[in-house]
Amino acid sequence: MCPHRLAPLSQGRIDQWGRLQCVYHGWCFSGSGECKLIPQAPSDGPPVNN
Ligand code: FES
Repeated sequence: MCPHRLAPLSQGRIDQWGRLQCVYHGWCFSGSGECKLIPQAPSDGPPVNN
């Protein structure tokens, strides 16, 4: 389940960097489950673990 709104990550896709991307709002996760990208996050907000 995606931690954002609990969408099924089984419907996600693998992006060009090998991350699992949720199909709903595009949050991306590493193979260990770390969130690597939140597309809508403001650039001056808290850092996303790269
Ligand atoms: S439900 Fe997964 S990014 Fe929003």
